[in-house]
Amino acid sequence: MIRVLFICLGNICRSPMAEAVFRNLVQQDNLSDKITVDSAGIGHWHSGEPPHKGTRDMLDKLHISYKDMKARQVHSTDWRDFDYIIAMDDQNIRDLRNINDEMSEVTIAKLMDFVKDPDNENVPDPYFTGNFDYTYELVSKGCNGLLDNIKKEKNI
Ligand code: 4NP
Repeated sequence: MIRVLFICLGNICRSPMAEAVFRNLVQQDNLSDKITVDSAGIGHWHSGEPPHKGTRDMLDKLHISYKDMKARQVHSTDWRDFDYIIAMDDQNIRDLRNINDEMSEVTIAKLMDFVKDPDNENVPDPYFTGNFDYTYELVSKGCNGLLDNIKKEKNI
């Protein structure tokens, strides 16, 4: 099983959107038996909460499920339990290194690393910008690029 974990600061806006969008792509490609998807936040403030209304509204509009998704904080054991830890911005990457800087097999990267000539190297935080349309635009491109990359890398 290939295990993918999306990370953002609060785990209510960007990473749950990425989790739901990526899972939907995986299902469309009939790869659900090969790839599992989760998300977590650097902070614990929203643990147990469903995605933010802006993310829910976007996913509802797209008919993409976020059923049973609840925010949780990232944990150092995630380095062992996942193959890809995919962050939204540079600060997430710095925070992840502070939580666990051990060498491990896990690939840690930013979502926009999987987009050629990205409009933005980071996914700006819609919790502060309010722009969930732009978040989806970037997340969608990133998830498509990430899935293509995983399929090539893992020969699936
Ligand atoms: P996210 O957005 O990292 O995309 O989930 C945030 C949500 C909540 C907070 C920060 C960012 N917060 O500070 O509560």
